Amino acid sequence: MRILSGIQPSGTLHIGNYFGMIKKMIESQNDGELFAFIASYHALTTVKDKEVLEKNIFEAAVNFLALGMDPEKSTFWVQSDVKEVLELYWILSNHTSMGLLERAHSYKDKVAKGLIPNHGLFSYPVLMAADILLYDSNLVPVGKDQIQHVEMTRDIANSFNNHYKENILVLPEAKVDEVVATVPGTDGAKMSKSYGNTIDMFGTKKGIKKQVMSIVTDSKDLDEAKDYTTCNIYKLCELFMNEDELKELQQRYATPGEGYGHFKLTLLDKINEHFAPYIQKREELINNPKEVKEILDFGAKKARKIAAAKMEKIREIVGL
Ligand code: TYM
Repeated sequence: MRILSGIQPSGTLHIGNYFGMIKKMIESQNDGELFAFIASYHALTTVKDKEVLEKNIFEAAVNFLALGMDPEKSTFWVQSDVKEVLELYWILSNHTSMGLLERAHSYKDKVAKGLIPNHGLFSYPVLMAADILLYDSNLVPVGKDQIQHVEMTRDIANSFNNHYKENILVLPEAKVDEVVATVPGTDGAKMSKSYGNTIDMFGTKKGIKKQVMSIVTDSKDLDEAKDYTTCNIYKLCELFMNEDELKELQQRYATPGEGYGHFKLTLLDKINEHFAPYIQKREELINNPKEVKEILDFGAKKARKIAAAKMEKIREIVGL
């Protein structure tokens, strides 16, 4: 069983990325062969500044490693260090209809939000299909927003296989955990870098506090009972608390006397507590960029070996 997923280094990683994907990836290192990469080519659709991109790639690597990515057990690399993916992207482009790409929600959303639609943004799902198909991935753990891209990957793989009458490309399945399929942001909409409603995983104490304190709630007073079922603070607490802790919190919502500020501080404590064990390792890695580079080079080497062998077969099938 091969499990693969990627993350764009397009900004500070947030707890939506963490619960939607990173945590599952780290945990699945025991369930199968894990392939995880930093989607540096994909990030070019939004990050056009050299220093920012370099910094984001480094930080994404550091965060994954600090959180428990094991580079020996798993394959962990930067997408653009294995160039075979671009060759497959081009080959697959010739088996991807315009209609399929035009239906992509993520593309339509980004354009609706004012991003100038260039070809990179439009063909983004084909590169994602190449990522998945190059490594014969069976399972792709993602948040809800990426399900359609995995379905498009299946469509593209099917049309390629049918055309060449070869069962060469493995059809992947998206793996989505319903509880964390869409982690809400501070305003209740999907947490997203581009909506400015994120809570960072490893921000400064002050920065995270500011983000938590900005969570939108209704305006019930201290002496009123509150409804946890519609509360954004509670939805985020659900990610960090066990059942007993949640029951206790529900009790606090039902009992007049506390305000949303109190619940926010409870959430803040939980967030800090959750990420505290990883901070030291993260600092060590930040201070040792040479080691991080070596780890990524090692991962790229492992990934390239598989990618090259797969591309050899694909080139043969298409006549290159
Ligand atoms: P990206 O970088 O936008 O997000 C990385 C992962 O985090 C999940 N995620 C969320 N999950 C729950 N709630 C949220 N608020 C939330 N925000 C983000 C995303 O669903 C994703 O799983 N196209 C991909 C990167 C990619 C990729 C791939 C993924 C490139 N090639 C191949 C899988 C396989 C992306 O933009 O993810």
